[in-house]
Amino acid sequence: MTPSDVKATLSFSDGSPQMDLPLYKGTIGPDVIDIRKLYAQTGKFTYDPGFLSTASCNSTITYIDGDKGELLYRGYPIEQLATNCDYLETCYLLLYGELPSPSQKEEFVNRVTNHTMVNEQMQFFLRGFRRDAHPMAVMTGLVGALSAFYHDSTDINNPEHREIAAIRLIAKMPTLVAMAYKYTIGQPYIYPKNDLSYAGNFMRMMFATPCEEYKPNDVLVRAMDRIFTLHADHEQNASTSTVRLCGSSGTNPFAAIAAGVACLWGPAHGGANEACLNMLNDIQQMGGVAKIGEFIKQVKDKNSNVKLMGFGHRVYKNYDPRAKLMRETCHEVLNELGLHDDPLFKLAMELEKIALEDEYFVARKLYPNVDFYSGIVQRAIGIPVPLFTAIFALARTVGWIAQLNEMIGDPEYKIGRPRQLFVGATPRNVTPIAQR
Ligand code: ACO
Repeated sequence: MTPSDVKATLSFSDGSPQMDLPLYKGTIGPDVIDIRKLYAQTGKFTYDPGFLSTASCNSTITYIDGDKGELLYRGYPIEQLATNCDYLETCYLLLYGELPSPSQKEEFVNRVTNHTMVNEQMQFFLRGFRRDAHPMAVMTGLVGALSAFYHDSTDINNPEHREIAAIRLIAKMPTLVAMAYKYTIGQPYIYPKNDLSYAGNFMRMMFATPCEEYKPNDVLVRAMDRIFTLHADHEQNASTSTVRLCGSSGTNPFAAIAAGVACLWGPAHGGANEACLNMLNDIQQMGGVAKIGEFIKQVKDKNSNVKLMGFGHRVYKNYDPRAKLMRETCHEVLNELGLHDDPLFKLAMELEKIALEDEYFVARKLYPNVDFYSGIVQRAIGIPVPLFTAIFALARTVGWIAQLNEMIGDPEYKIGRPRQLFVGATPRNVTPIAQR
């Protein structure tokens, strides 16, 4: 971190001595004020629920400029990565900091491919779940359970363990998501086939059966690969911060990633693509395009608790750059499948148009996020709605690992331990139960 010549000065209106706070400059983005000595010197904490103004770490992985609608992985714009690189190249970039050379790519792809199978025992573990369990409930369990199967890669302080855990997680997530799906529909699991691409292999494990081979369609495989790339990392969002906080206790990488999966499940985060498609289905059932006005009215009503899912973002106050790319993919996939007249897609386009012109959304800088389109693409490919967030988890796994490994390698890393402003009861005595 580069210290700035500028210092922030904190003064108090009660006459307490003022304090100079160091300022650090990033390579891009806002400066940060270093408040680490604040408590020791003033006896005061800062208060920032939801981390609206707090940088929890320094990082070299992903940069977002929410006002410009810019997303960079290791300095490369997401638009260039999504059009020139595949997902595994992006994984390499996120993990090791540079894009791979052809030989590095080949070696990396081989390494990932050699770990696509999961311990055979995993399928018996899966049997403990109800068949109608939500795939994210199953995934939280399965990912956490990996630490019970791969003891030789659970020491977070050992770089070799971290490396093999990273490869195993990236390689096995598609297998686990496909197994979770096959289990819910009662079909036999399909083993990975290592001569296919990462995305092609995943789609085959999802859609092939022992009696019918699945021939991956190039357009759909590219769409799936793009979904993975666009979701690969997104700096210090809720699930990534969860992984960092969980990993900061020294727990094993599988447990930390399982915590990320659990966090991602929420509808304000990864669950939004599922919630968005359910919302479109609801509007469709209400009467479709003709009912958009009525729906938007509910969204604007503060007492209704209805949100336009797939709109808004904590950081992007401009068009989400991933949404633009996913919108493009959405057209490609629907054309390929002859679904351009798909009523849900038409409804989404109309909703987008109305919301982008509506004063409520304009004033609050609410634009479509990636989930607004990714659900439509996945549905067209044949992915069932409850599986959307599991696919997001699959794609985000590499980002979580890269962030976790960056934290462990940071000499300034400490166990995460936020403080609080206590507003509860002051000390009091327990009254014996008979007298209460
Ligand atoms: N629909 C209607 N109003 C909205 C929406 C929305 N989708 N999002 C924000 N608003 C309104 C809020 O009600 C608030 O209005 P107010 O100022 O009148 O009170 C204002 O816009 C600011 O919103 P906040 O909730 O303060 O924004 P925050 O940054 O905390 O929330 C979030 C961001 C959680 C993503 C929110 O926009 C949301 O819930 N969106 C829908 C869910 C969604 O699509 N999530 C996906 C996120 S992207 C991802 O995880 C890949």
